[in-house]
Amino acid sequence: MRIFSGIQPTGAKHLGNYIGAIREYVAYQERGDAFICVVDLHSITVGHDPRELRDSTVSVAALLFAAGLDPERSTVFVQSHVPAHAEAAWLLGSVTSFGELRRMTQFKEKAERQEFVAVGLFTYPVLQAADILLYDTDVVPVGEDQRQHIELTRDVAERFNSRYGETFVVPRVEVPEIGAKIMDLQEPTKKMSTTGGTEQGTVLMLDPPDVLRKKLKSAVTDSGREVVRGPGKEGIANLIEVLSVATGDKPDAIEARYADGGYGDFKADVADAVVELLRPIQERYQELRGDPAELERLLVRGAERARAVSAPVLERMVDRMGFVRRPSG
Ligand code: TYM
Repeated sequence: MRIFSGIQPTGAKHLGNYIGAIREYVAYQERGDAFICVVDLHSITVGHDPRELRDSTVSVAALLFAAGLDPERSTVFVQSHVPAHAEAAWLLGSVTSFGELRRMTQFKEKAERQEFVAVGLFTYPVLQAADILLYDTDVVPVGEDQRQHIELTRDVAERFNSRYGETFVVPRVEVPEIGAKIMDLQEPTKKMSTTGGTEQGTVLMLDPPDVLRKKLKSAVTDSGREVVRGPGKEGIANLIEVLSVATGDKPDAIEARYADGGYGDFKADVADAVVELLRPIQERYQELRGDPAELERLLVRGAERARAVSAPVLERMVDRMGFVRRPSG
């Protein structure tokens, strides 16, 4: 089974990214052949700082390895190291409609926040489809907010296959049962995000323990004292999901455990659990960042593997679409 997913390098990675996606990539590598891409080409669709992009690309790659992606089993690579992505995106642009892209909720949300709305922001999902389809992907593990993009990818793949003949594997989306949408701790009706959320409500994977504790203990809850999921209890429900993922306990068991405890002990336990969840990742991250040559070596190897797998798929696309065969070399 082939797994493909992508993560943007810009913006600090947060607990939502970890719980909704990165943790899943790591789990999937037990079941299949995982390709995880640091999507730097996607990150330039909203204004960016070139120096920051370079550093954050390396930083996110380090974080992926630190979180448990094993370079012997999985392929972690940088999108711009494999030019086939940009090329395939151009080709797929002719089997994607303007209307489809206009309906993308992420585009609408992001465009609202930009003064300059780049064409690249609009065609962003086409590049995402190219990422996925170039690897004959079976499963795309993502958080809930990416579901619509993966549905579009499926439609584009099916349309290409029916116009030009069987070319692509049509991938399926998988979102985790618990934690597919981690909410902002200060505004628990909004998803956790470094661009749309609050600073205090966004738990960063690299926040030091005292900052993690402070953010989690000051999470907005409600005026009640019952640790249960339910209407009007988005804040508590969110913390129950976080604790469930951090400890491996089922949400029902957590509700039972804190049945008559009130919020104070519960929040303190969530804080401890998150500190322990992230501690080993933060330690490995620091080690890896201390060895840039090793990181570069890993990314060179990732790019080689990614090129080897995607090149024949691009070739297939070019051939089916009727381009004159390319001179080799
Ligand atoms: P990105 O970089 O915004 O997010 C990376 C992953 O984290 C998930 N995620 C969340 N999960 C739970 N709760 C949250 N609050 C939360 N916030 C983010 C996202 O769903 C995602 O899985 N367009 C993609 C990157 C991409 C991609 C791809 C993904 C490019 N090509 C191909 C899959 C396949 C994005 O911007 O993710």
